[in-house]
Formats: sequence, C-alpha cells, structure tokens
Amino acid sequence: MKPINDTFLRALKREQTDYTPVWLMRQAGRYLPEYNATRARLGSFLALAKCPEAACEVTLQPVDRFGLDAAILFSDILTVPDAMGLGLSFVAGEGPVFAKPVQSEEAVAALDVPDMEETLGYVTEAVRVIRRELNNRVPLIGFSGSPFTLACYMIEGGSSKDFATVKKMMYTRPDLLERILDVNARAVTAYLNAQIKAGTQALQVFDTWGGALADGCFERFSLRYMKQIIDGLIHEHDGQKVPVIIFTKGGGLWLEQMAACGADCVGLDWTVNLAKARRRVNDAVSLQGNLDPAVLFADEAAIRREVRRVIDSFGPVGKGGHVFNLGHGINQHTDPEAVRILVDEVHTYSRRMHEL
Ligand code: CP3
Repeated sequence: MKPINDTFLRALKREQTDYTPVWLMRQAGRYLPEYNATRARLGSFLALAKCPEAACEVTLQPVDRFGLDAAILFSDILTVPDAMGLGLSFVAGEGPVFAKPVQSEEAVAALDVPDMEETLGYVTEAVRVIRRELNNRVPLIGFSGSPFTLACYMIEGGSSKDFATVKKMMYTRPDLLERILDVNARAVTAYLNAQIKAGTQALQVFDTWGGALADGCFERFSLRYMKQIIDGLIHEHDGQKVPVIIFTKGGGLWLEQMAACGADCVGLDWTVNLAKARRRVNDAVSLQGNLDPAVLFADEAAIRREVRRVIDSFGPVGKGGHVFNLGHGINQHTDPEAVRILVDEVHTYSRRMHEL
C-alpha cells in the first residue's frame, strides 16, 4: 500500500512533489529525552535494538515529535557482523567492540553468510511491528552498512582513527579483504531482501568509511560491493518500487561512479555543492543531503539561513529529486528544538522550488 504522505518516495523517484521531504540520519537517538527514557527502561542499546516493540517505540518518537517525511528502522549496521558470530558489545565511552575481530587467514575462511531468520529475525519482526504502528502515515526506511564499512569494524574490532589494520590487509593480502567483502555483500543482500519482504519501503546503504580509501581503492573495495548488493536486491514488493540510497561520507569525488551503480539516490555530505553535483549526474539520480550537522548548534536565524542555502543550492527541482537530510548523523548533544526549526524551514521554504 502507498503511504498517505509519499513525498519522500516520490522525491527519490524524481516525481513531482509539493515540497522537499526531510528525514535525518540517526533521527532516533540520545538527543531525544524520550529515547533515553526507553533505553533506560530496556537497560542497554543492544537490548533496545533487539526488542521489536521497543525498537518500534523509538522509531516513531522523532516522526511523532517533528512531522518528518520518513521513519527509519531503529537498529544498527553492526547487527550483521554480530549475526556472523563476532560477539558485538557496546562499551560506554568507547563505542562498539567485537570480541572476535577478523584478522587471521583462519578467521577470514571461517566467515559465512548467517541464516537471516535465525539470527536477525528480531529485525524483520521490528519492521513488521513498525509498519503496523506507522499505519502508512510515512514510508519506512530499512538500512545496512556497506560491505567495506562493516569490514572496517570487523577487522579493527571496533572504531578506528586510521584503519591501519584494514589498510594493511588491503595492501598486503587484498584476497583476504575481498573474501570478507564478498561474504558481507552476500549477507547484506539477503538482509535487505528480508527487510523488503517484511515491509521496508526504501533502503539506505551507509558507507561511512568509504571516503577513507585512496582513489582507485574506493571503486575496487567499496563501490563494487555496493553494486553487487544493488544487483541482488528484489527492488519491488507489493507492487511498489523500493528505491535505494547509497551514502558514502567523503564520497563527493566519486559522484559520477556512484550515480552509475544502480542506486536511485546518492547521499552527500556537506563538502559538496548540490548545484554542481546535480550537473555532474545530470539529474539521472536524486540527491540527498547535505546540511552540516553542526548547524544545529547555532541559533534559530542561522539554522533557517543555512537550511535555505542548501535548498537554494539544489535550486528549482524540475526533473530532479531532492531529499533534505544532514550530511551525516545528528550529533547526540543537539537540542531537539533546533530540529523542529529545521523541519519547519524545509517544509515552508522549499515549496517555491516545486512550482511548475
Ligand atoms: O538513524 C536512525 O535513527 C536509525 C538507527 C541507527 C543507529 N545506528 C542507532 C544507534 C542507524 C541507521 C545507525 C547506523 C550506524 N551505526 C552507522 C552508520 C551511520 C553513521 O553514523 O555513520 C555506524 C557507523 C554505526 C555503528 C555504531 N553504532 C557506532 C560507531 C556506535 C557508537 C557511537 C555512537 O554514536 O554512540 C553505535 C551505537 C548507536 N547506534 C547508537 C544509536 C542510537 C547510540 C547508542 C546508545 O544509545 O547508547
């Protein structure tokens, strides 16, 4: 069934809309007091993510509070390597940690695509619960990490500043890295297809660390595997197309290649000018982005001004498609009032760009 507010899906498909739709990466999270209350009740982030009813509750919180044009499944990209048996935990102040990082030839050989229903059934169940509770108000976005971004965490065993272990493997034993990336791509394809069948209406692949790669390495070790995923997706469910967004932070340099990989939309960070980006891809894909998340620390006048700058830089939408978003996830110290101002400015100011 079509959502009552299908502005987001229409913009992804470069169809006519009345205004520019908006959602925010990491829109459910610690900057919202109601999120912190639900997480405290469940005891931890992972307990929250693994409880479909609670995951549904926090998915709906920002949608109810701000009138956003899309909901995003509450989960994490690291559920996939967790399902592969690497032992995920979150250590306060340190972020994610894997008990069994993939660093030896034996560990690489032992990796396999997990059984989706057995290991990630809590995610598809969350999708079903969220679709029921959303009641078609706005579309639900599903997501995964890119094979390369997942490999960064799997090989480093957690967050990293320089990706020394991943890059050492890439330059000395590219065959090992390519085997990890291929398993990840097959796992993510099965995972996203399971999400589509459970009811997600659009998908985003988060390639948070692809921008850390050297020219040439990005195409070989990140983009190629995102293309493998897109080629393996079912793309349609219940008679509706399921558009795909790919987002590489720092990927602006490779925009043309990204636009040609089969995705419907390319997400951009704040280093890219949207007018130039549009010309480079010739409106063949829609674009998502790209406000600097730090703008939300400024006062109301500055937030409204910077939102307008992003909308103006895209310009009259015409045959293109623009989904307003931040250039990366929202910062946990953001004041929710700043988000309310952002959404209000996008919804009112952008109308002038959609007049025929
Ligand atoms: O966007 C949403 O609202 C949906 C939920 C979502 C989360 N993580 C919840 C989360 C999504 C889409 C993600 C994606 C994700 N997870 C990415 C890609 C996007 C990006 O920000 O680059 C990455 C790299 C991760 C891995 C991850 N998860 C890290 C590094 C951390 C710890 C650092 C941090 O931000 O706290 C997490 C934990 C996490 N995932 C939290 C949330 C709300 C915070 C945990 C908490 O509540 O304690």
